[in-house]
Amino acid sequence: MTDTSADAAPGRAAARLHLDVFLTPADLRAGLEADARAGLTATPKWLPPKYFYDERGSRLFEEITRLPEYYPTRTEHAILVASSDEIAAAADAEALLELGSGSSEKTRMLLDAMTRSGGLSAYVPVDVSASALEDAMAGLRRDYPALDLHGAVADFDHHLDRLPAPGRRLVALLGGTLGNYPPERRRVFLGKLAAAMQPGESFLLGIDLVKDPDRLVAAYDDMAGVTAEFNRNVIAVLNRELDGDLLPDDFEHVALWDAEHEWIEMRLRARRPVHATLAALDLTVDLDAGEEIRTEISAKFRRERIEPELTAAGLRPERWWTDPAGDFALALARR
Ligand code: AVJ
Repeated sequence: MTDTSADAAPGRAAARLHLDVFLTPADLRAGLEADARAGLTATPKWLPPKYFYDERGSRLFEEITRLPEYYPTRTEHAILVASSDEIAAAADAEALLELGSGSSEKTRMLLDAMTRSGGLSAYVPVDVSASALEDAMAGLRRDYPALDLHGAVADFDHHLDRLPAPGRRLVALLGGTLGNYPPERRRVFLGKLAAAMQPGESFLLGIDLVKDPDRLVAAYDDMAGVTAEFNRNVIAVLNRELDGDLLPDDFEHVALWDAEHEWIEMRLRARRPVHATLAALDLTVDLDAGEEIRTEISAKFRRERIEPELTAAGLRPERWWTDPAGDFALALARR
């Protein structure tokens, strides 16, 4: 944990810069080992999507957000441009806490709106990546010198109840990240989140909406093949972190729409029989030709489905913003 003080403007208290570490590199490592072992020995095989995001994977994801087929990021951005003043007024918060803050790019719109409406004194970025947090906080410290920055390296499945609360918060989970959770984990997460919030605090949730399956599938199977590279990147992560000898090229990218669950599923399908080893786990990994590893679900929502889930968790839905086409939504709920 570090705690330093920025130069104060005359007559004003120094803005503070602070970083709490709830999740260590050893925790991350233990998680990867346990997940890889569990997922690759299961039938059918699976891997959690969080391991896409090493340096190369994060870069590929940034590239995805600029693809013509991948509408969620630019649509959420447009909704924030149009509505961040309304969001700030409705939330009436003293602190913005962002779960999965990454580079904190889209956050700036909310920070600006909350500053304009008065009352904002702190930003709490929460991410599993210490380096992403440090970079983001360094940039924000320059551009928002009056704001207290209180970051937390944390896993939001485990540390929600210990996250900083420097005043009444607006808790934001943007980008459609909630869609990565299967329904039961989503229910548990929302319940824990509500329990960790104070009455009157609010929750801003960015979600992708159900739409024409062709558009949904195209967003996860782009012409340029960037999403395919992103998907296969998890193989490179396993090789590097767990001393593996899998060949990324043995795997074909698959994106499909599951109409029953209303989610996109990404898989890696073995193009030929695979016999590989993860030496760090002392684990052999065998796949038949055509066998698949599920690497991600990305659930799509309807207002009439997500609002009852928020209510059941103890979060009262209050506002709903979408783009004109109804592709993506921001929901605001109150504890
Ligand atoms: C970062 C989880 C919101 O589900 O759309 C993009 C990740 N995967 N393309 C999503 C992703 C494939 C993205 N989220």
